[in-house]
Amino acid sequence: MASSMAGTIEGHPLITAERGSRPLVRAEALRKVFRSATTEVVALGGISLAADAGEMIALIGPSGSGKSTLLHLLAALDTPTSGTVYFAGNSLAEFAENELVEFRSREVGFIWQRHQLLADFTAAENVAMPLLIRGNASGEALDTAHAWLDEVGLLGRAKHRTGELSGGEQQRVAIARALVTRPKLLLADEPTGDLDERNTESIFELMQRLHRSHRLTSILATHNSSLAQRADRVLALEHGLLMPDDAKIAHRASGCGATRESTAPEGRG
Ligand SMILES: Nc1ncnc2c1ncn2[C@@H]1O[C@H](COP(=O)(O)OP(=O)(O)O)[C@@H](O)[C@H]1O
Ligand SMILES: [Mg+2]
Repeated sequence: MASSMAGTIEGHPLITAERGSRPLVRAEALRKVFRSATTEVVALGGISLAADAGEMIALIGPSGSGKSTLLHLLAALDTPTSGTVYFAGNSLAEFAENELVEFRSREVGFIWQRHQLLADFTAAENVAMPLLIRGNASGEALDTAHAWLDEVGLLGRAKHRTGELSGGEQQRVAIARALVTRPKLLLADEPTGDLDERNTESIFELMQRLHRSHRLTSILATHNSSLAQRADRVLALEHGLLMPDDAKIAHRASGCGATRESTAPEGRG
């Protein structure tokens, strides 16, 4: 892959973190309240966590527990009501708007449950889109997109419109699109939630393989507890709060993954 990815983006000056700096992402006392004229929903009640570079973390919890909200805050797609997200030791709250745009486009890959592909564009065009938006030349962007489609096993579908692809294939395109800018952090919001068992397994295996080969830090929200057990660590959300480790009985009983603190002690940043 390394050779086929030659010609993709160079390092950039904004954030100087090397892959391997730990933790890559840290959240401190994150709180998110959604307010309307009449209601107030506390989506996150003040949570702290740290993800070391290279870790794959599974984020579990019932619907409405705050998984998507947390991922959006980590990706700077939304801002916390209070609390701070640090990326490579830098507080996102200190970033200027243009730096946030850079952060979202270069440092984070995001995969949604319903892939959010452009159905009328080809698989290659969808994957190239983040590079085109960033101003890369189209020939170069498409070459890079093809290399990524090859890596996710879909080169043969490069010229197909994504609306014509199966659910599993669409999710492979979405994964390629999320990684085409070579982010360090991969966030996935129930990426297999709409897939059958066979596709769930192959998409998860693909994500694990890419996680390792590209030395990503990955946080994956999932309802699927057997998938979660295959991550390095499980964080369980309930009513916007992280559950202590001893609440994660299923995970512990499996003997899989490290059982480490889910909150970030001072000094890990
Ligand atoms: N944009 C929003 N406006 C109002 N409430 C929201 C919004 N987004 C999420 N919520 C609420 O915040 C809580 C957590 O939602 P979410 O993060 O989507 O949970 P999950 O992804 O675990 O299902 C839920 O009660 C949800 O209704
Ligand atoms: Mg969600």
